[in-house]
Amino acid sequence: MKGIILAGGTATRLFPLTATTSKQLLPVYDRQMIFYPFNVLIKAGIREVLIIVAPDNSGQFLNLLGSIFQKHDVKVEFMVQKIPKGLADAFIIGEDFIDDDDVALVLGDNIFEDDLYEKIGSFKKGGMVFVKEVPDPERYGVVEFDKNLRAISIEEKPQKPKSNYCVTGAYVYDSRVVEIAKSLKSSDRGEIEITDINNEYLKTGDLAVEKLRGVWLDAGTFDSLLEAGNIVKDRKMHKKFDPIIDSAIKEFNAELKNIAKSVLFRRQNKNIQTINT
Ligand code: TTP
Repeated sequence: MKGIILAGGTATRLFPLTATTSKQLLPVYDRQMIFYPFNVLIKAGIREVLIIVAPDNSGQFLNLLGSIFQKHDVKVEFMVQKIPKGLADAFIIGEDFIDDDDVALVLGDNIFEDDLYEKIGSFKKGGMVFVKEVPDPERYGVVEFDKNLRAISIEEKPQKPKSNYCVTGAYVYDSRVVEIAKSLKSSDRGEIEITDINNEYLKTGDLAVEKLRGVWLDAGTFDSLLEAGNIVKDRKMHKKFDPIIDSAIKEFNAELKNIAKSVLFRRQNKNIQTINT
């Protein structure tokens, strides 16, 4: 299975923080936000990851993630989404990367407390989404259940939600998802919707709907960004990362420190030489 992190978008709700960097590079407690969705993929055993970024600040993603996993046998690729056309666009941009494989998509600003790796590991075919009961379902894709608690439809941002269960930002599909995404028409809000992909899989009875445990957040507003940092700290979520990510971050930080030290050393030496000559 391959992995995609969708880390483009406009991030208007976090402006002006996002005037100088991308939302997914902002800190959530002691590490950049993007490491949280990365952790979901790595924990699930995925070792090939495509990161989709917006044109602005794309170099910052490369600086952070371009070689950080080199020693850890994790292959990272980058692609630019020039215009934020919607979540389903990930599978059109990622067509060649996905090839004939299954794919897990995690949104770059989503933070999951639950370990998804067992569920992702049990994936066979079709699609799989992870749902969470929320007080404000009208902001999300909302699942309608029949009386046997089977999912029968998903509505994007409905005015009258048919349940309190919303679809969160982690999805798994077989490679059919590429053709489904390519066949979609833009919604009224001008995006190609991942909800339409999920409804396609639902129609054929091929969508597994898994309930999440624990906290789920999208860290896309000032309040949720702050809340995310606090929850990570309180529940020690930063201590439960996959060892691959942890050591990659430690190595990266140590390397940065060494570079900074040697630059300082060279500068000081130069100053001494200048004084001596
Ligand atoms: P959103 O939070 O829905 O959108 P946004 O990040 O543009 O923020 P805002 O609503 O404040 O303007 O996006 C969820 C995630 O998906 C986030 O990581 C950005 C990413 N995304 C893309 O990469 N491309 C897209 O076309 C869209 C819609 C989102």
